[in-house]
This record gives sequence, C-alpha cells and structure tokens, in this order.
Amino acid sequence: MVKNLSGDLRHILCYPIPTDECFNTRLLELSKLNVALIIPYGHVFLKGKIKVLGKGYASIVVKAVDLEDNVVALKIRRVDSRRSSLIHEAENLALANTVNVGPRLLGFTENIIMYEYIDGIKLKEFIEGASENHIIKMVSDLFRQCFRLDMIGLDHGELSRPYSHILIRKPHKPYIIDFESSSVLRKPSNLTSIISSLIIKEGSLQQKLRVVLGVSNKQSLIEALREYKRNIGPRTFLKILKLLNLA
Ligand SMILES: Nc1ncnc2c1ncn2[C@@H]1O[C@H](COP(=O)(O)OP(=O)(O)OP(=O)(O)O)[C@@H](O)[C@H]1O
Ligand SMILES: [Mg+2]
Repeated sequence: MVKNLSGDLRHILCYPIPTDECFNTRLLELSKLNVALIIPYGHVFLKGKIKVLGKGYASIVVKAVDLEDNVVALKIRRVDSRRSSLIHEAENLALANTVNVGPRLLGFTENIIMYEYIDGIKLKEFIEGASENHIIKMVSDLFRQCFRLDMIGLDHGELSRPYSHILIRKPHKPYIIDFESSSVLRKPSNLTSIISSLIIKEGSLQQKLRVVLGVSNKQSLIEALREYKRNIGPRTFLKILKLLNLA
C-alpha cells in the first residue's frame, strides 16, 4: 500500500493535471516497483506546497522508500512530457551503469524510473564552495566518467549544459544525471562537450577551474580536443588529461 504523508500523491504522480485513469495506472506501477512511501522532501515545490527533489520539463523527481526500507529516488513522467515513456531513458541509464556512470538503476516501468538517491548539490554550488583539492578530485572523476561513456558509444546529449545535469555528493563525487536525451546512435561527444563548457568557454566559473587546474594554454587544449574527437581512445584522452594536469 502506497502512502503519502501529505495526501498530495495524485499531483506528484500525474503532474500537472491528474486524472483517475492516470492515478490508477501509476499506483499500480509504484506497487510493481515495491515502493512503500513517497517522502515530501526537497527544495522544489509543486503547486506551491508539495516538496519534491526536482521538477523538469519531462518529469517530477521525488525521494521514496521501498518495502525493504531502502531510500531511493523516483523519476515520474509528467503527463505533458513530450516523451511517451521513460523506458528509453531507463535503458540508457542501465548502459551508463555498466561503466559505473549515473545513479544506479533499481527498476523501471513505463512512467517511473527507480534509481539511487543522490544526496548532492548542484555543480555550480560545488565549484563556488569546494576546496581546490576537492575540485580537482571531482573534475578528474567527471572527465574519466565522460571518457568511459565515449568509449561505450553512449552520448549523453546535454553535457554542454553541465550545470543542470551533474550532482555532487560530498566531499567530491560527481553523478551525471538525466539520460533522457542520450543515444547510442550519435557520435559520442561527452568529454569534448563537458570540457568545452566547463573549461574553455569564457565565464567566472570556467576561469576558476582553469586557475585551479593550472591550465595556461587554452589553444593546445582545443587542439587536443580536436584530435580526441577524430580518434577517441586512451592515447588521445591521456593527452587531454596531461594538459589539465590530471595525469
Ligand atoms: N537520483 C537523484 N537523486 C537526487 N536528486 C535527483 C536525482 N535525479 C534527479 N534529481 C533532481 O531532480 C532534478 C530533475 O531531474 P532530471 O534532470 O532527470 O529531470 P528532467 O525532467 O529530465 O529535467 P529537464 O526538463 O531539465 O531535462 C535534478 O536537477 C535534480 O535536482
Ligand atoms: Mg531531462
């Protein structure tokens, strides 16, 4: 039996406009996933009062507990999402998990993905507040994750906008989230996208990262990225790591 402390379950499960049909379908999906309880928790509010972890154009993300008392996160498809199901996203998250990227997938139905809850902060907040040592550890891990995704041919698709697609669990563990736009059909550009937007672009956070990493020559980094793009592999990746003083 799925309970909800605040009685706002209909709005969470069938945002933004609940119907009985939608509610019943999704209650069934919650029970298939062995969800015991949805926890009203997070910094985002639905309808001005219901606490959730996140609200995107495609989904609502909430904290929940399963029947074995494990804390999990649920990504619930919005009724007005342009995607007709979350299955494609779940499958690509499963693929990312094979190279230890992304929150661990725990189960999925057509409209709900159950995955590891990340008690984290946004990338921007992390870069602004963390120590140099932790920033270096975080980007080193993040760029290696992007390389692993490139090597299995899974393009995340939105890493040119990293600030909304990466969560950091303290002290410095990055998690790439939201595989909604990911694909195995495009040429992967995870590493080049993320380095372009985090290091090469102009901006105060980029400037901070360049100083922390000791990147003095942007031009040779751009050339190394071009070479990597033409020939993705350990050799071209190592060259990039060296220019970032991460190898
Ligand atoms: N596993 C998780 N643990 C904790 N919080 C999460 C998790 N996954 C997502 N969130 C939170 O929920 C928000 C929305 O998640 P996500 O980006 O996957 O949804 P979306 O509907 O695809 O969003 P968008 O419309 O921006 O693409 C995230 O920004 C993050 O704050
Ligand atoms: Mg999305």
